[in-house]
Amino acid sequence: MRMALAAAVLAATPAFADGAAVFDANCAFCHQGGGVGVPGQFPRLAGRAGAIAAKPAGRAFLPKVVLNGISGRITVDGEQILGIMPALDTLSDDDIAAVLTYVTGLDHKPVAYTAAEIKAARAQPRVSPTEMAAQHVALAARKIVP
Ligand code: HEC
Repeated sequence: MRMALAAAVLAATPAFADGAAVFDANCAFCHQGGGVGVPGQFPRLAGRAGAIAAKPAGRAFLPKVVLNGISGRITVDGEQILGIMPALDTLSDDDIAAVLTYVTGLDHKPVAYTAAEIKAARAQPRVSPTEMAAQHVALAARKIVP
């Protein structure tokens, strides 16, 4: 009875996940504060994430990067890199929605992600980080990834 009430209260509570805080705790170690990146090593997210999410296929791609990780040879700002990003699927739907809204808004008009959108992406079959790199290459060929 008390459990059911607590669940109902939780379900009714809007998400207050702070995208900047989620980023600083989970992404900044590699992508650096403000998402400026490290050329040749860690892609900048400032300016790039927003450009990727501006197109529907790119928008759908970003939650999958966080949920699956990405590792393989990809081109970032005209430079080939080969790095490893682990899956960060232990983050909640709210946290992933908030962090993606935050990174798309760095140096770009933010793209508002919802927790429902992340939940739907999480329900999709998991793919390997290598497969995500292959998808990155395919999106770059279509000029969806800059
Ligand atoms: C351990 C280091 C590390 C962490 C932590 C990390 N990333 Fe990454 N990320 C990378 C690397 C390395 C790549 C490029 C992978 C490759 O070379 O295939 C990448 C790629 C990306 C890309 C594609 C970028 C582009 O410009 O094409 C996005 C988007 C991204 N990361 C978002 C995030 C977000 C959001 C977080 C935090 C929730 C995060 N990353 C945490 C290392 C990391």
